Amino acid sequence: MEKAEVSFAGAKMHSRAPSHTADRRLYLLSRHLEPSLSAISAHDGNRNVSASPTSGFSDPGSVFSHVVQAPEDPILGVTVAYNKDPSPVKLNLGVGAYRTVEGKPLVLNVVRKAEHILVNDRSRVKEYLPITGLADFNKLSAKLILGADSPAIHENRVTTVQCLSGTGSLRVGAEFLSRHYHQQHAIYIPQPTWGNHPKVFTLAGLSVKAYRYYDPVTRGLDIQGLLEDLGSAPSGAIVLLHACAHNPTGVDPTATQWEQIRKLMRSRSLLPFFDSAYQGFASGSLDRDAHPVRSFVADGGECLVAQSYAKNMGLYGERVGALSIVCKNPEVASRVESQLKLVIRPMYSNPPIHGASIVATILKDRNMYEEWTDELKAMADRIITMRHQLFEALRARRTPGDWSHIIKQIGMFTFTGLNTKQVAFMTKEFHIYMTSDGRISMAGLSSKTVPHLADAIHAAVTRMV
Ligand code: LMR
Repeated sequence: MEKAEVSFAGAKMHSRAPSHTADRRLYLLSRHLEPSLSAISAHDGNRNVSASPTSGFSDPGSVFSHVVQAPEDPILGVTVAYNKDPSPVKLNLGVGAYRTVEGKPLVLNVVRKAEHILVNDRSRVKEYLPITGLADFNKLSAKLILGADSPAIHENRVTTVQCLSGTGSLRVGAEFLSRHYHQQHAIYIPQPTWGNHPKVFTLAGLSVKAYRYYDPVTRGLDIQGLLEDLGSAPSGAIVLLHACAHNPTGVDPTATQWEQIRKLMRSRSLLPFFDSAYQGFASGSLDRDAHPVRSFVADGGECLVAQSYAKNMGLYGERVGALSIVCKNPEVASRVESQLKLVIRPMYSNPPIHGASIVATILKDRNMYEEWTDELKAMADRIITMRHQLFEALRARRTPGDWSHIIKQIGMFTFTGLNTKQVAFMTKEFHIYMTSDGRISMAGLSSKTVPHLADAIHAAVTRMV
C-alpha cells in the first residue's frame, strides 16, 4: 500500500491532505490524534484513530459494513460503564456533574422557580429564536462574564450569540476563526486539557498545538514552561485559556501569574480564547472567577469567550451557553456578528429557547439572581468540604504520598496523580469510576462515600506501585 490510511470514526483518509473541506478536517483531526496528542490529555479519546478502517466485512450486504466500532467517549463513556455495573457500592466520579449529599443530581430551587414562571406565562410561544438566540440572554450573559460596568459592553463592541452550552460556543467560535482569522490557524491549548478541546478545534479547521501547563512533579502550574511556549508561539496565534477551575487539573494561575500571561500574550499579539465553563465554581464568587477574562478585556484588546451554564446553574442537559467576541469597535463587532450567523445557520439553524429563557429569567431579577448566587456558593463550598474530608481520610489511613494538592486544587476536579493501572484497579476492586488520567469529580463525592474512596486510593497506591 503506497499511502498510509488512517480512520477517524470510520472515515477513511489518506496521508496526503485531501482538498475537500470536510475531508481536510477529518484528515487534520486524524493527524492530530496520532501520537503527539496522547501527551496533551490522557482522556482525549485518541483511541478513535485506528490503523485499519475496517473491522471485517461481517455483513457484506450492508453499505455500512466497513464502519468500525468507535470507542466510547473517554469522559461520558465512564458513565456508560458505571450504569452497567450492578454493584450497590459503585461510585461515579467521572463526569463533572454536581451531586447532592445523597449522590443525586441537583435542580437548583431558583431554576425550578424560573421554570414555574415560564410555564405559567401564557404569552410565551414556541416560535423560532433568531439565529443569534434570545437577545436578553445574550446581553445578560455578556454582563455576567465581562462585568456590568465593562467599557467594552458600553461601547457596543461585544457581540454575543447564544450557543449549545460550552462545547457549542467553542465550536462556533473556532469555526468563525477558521474562516475569518487569517493571521493564524493554530490554536495553542494547555497540556493537559479537557479531552474534547482538540477534537472541537481540529474539526473546526484549526491546527492544534500544545503549551506546557501542568507540572506533574509539583502538581501545580508549570509557569516557566507556559511562558516559554507562549513566548515562542508565532505572533497572532490563538491561545485557549481556561478562565478558572482548569479542567482536568484544578490548577489555576495566581493573579500575578495571570498578569504575566496577559502581558506576554498582548506583547506577542496572541489572541485569547477563554473557555469559561465554571464561573462561580472555583471560588464561589462569580466576579472573582471572571477576573482573568475581565483583565484581558480591560486592556482594550480583543478576545473570545465561551460560556456555559451547565455547571453553575446546573443546566447540563438544557445545553445553554454563549459565545462573546470582544472587538475593537462597534462596526467590527457588527460585521463579526453577521458572519457568526452564517456559521450557525447551516450548523443548527438557531438555538433552543427553554434553557436560555431560564437563565434570562434568573439573571434579570435581582432576588432570583441573589438566590442563585447563594445556591452556587453552597455547591462550591460543599466541593471544598469534600476536598478537606478526602485529604483528612487519607491522612488518617497514613496513605503514602503527599496529598496536599487535593486541598490546593480548585473547582470541580482533583487531578489525583493516580496512574492508569491504579485507576483500573479502583474500578475493578472498588467499583469507583473515574477518567483514566486519574481525574476525580469532587462534585460527585459525599461524606458517606469519602471513606470508600479513601480506602480505594489507599489500596491502589500501596498495592499497585
Ligand atoms: C467533564 O469534563 O466531565 C464535563 O465537562 C462534561 C463533559 O462534557 O466532558
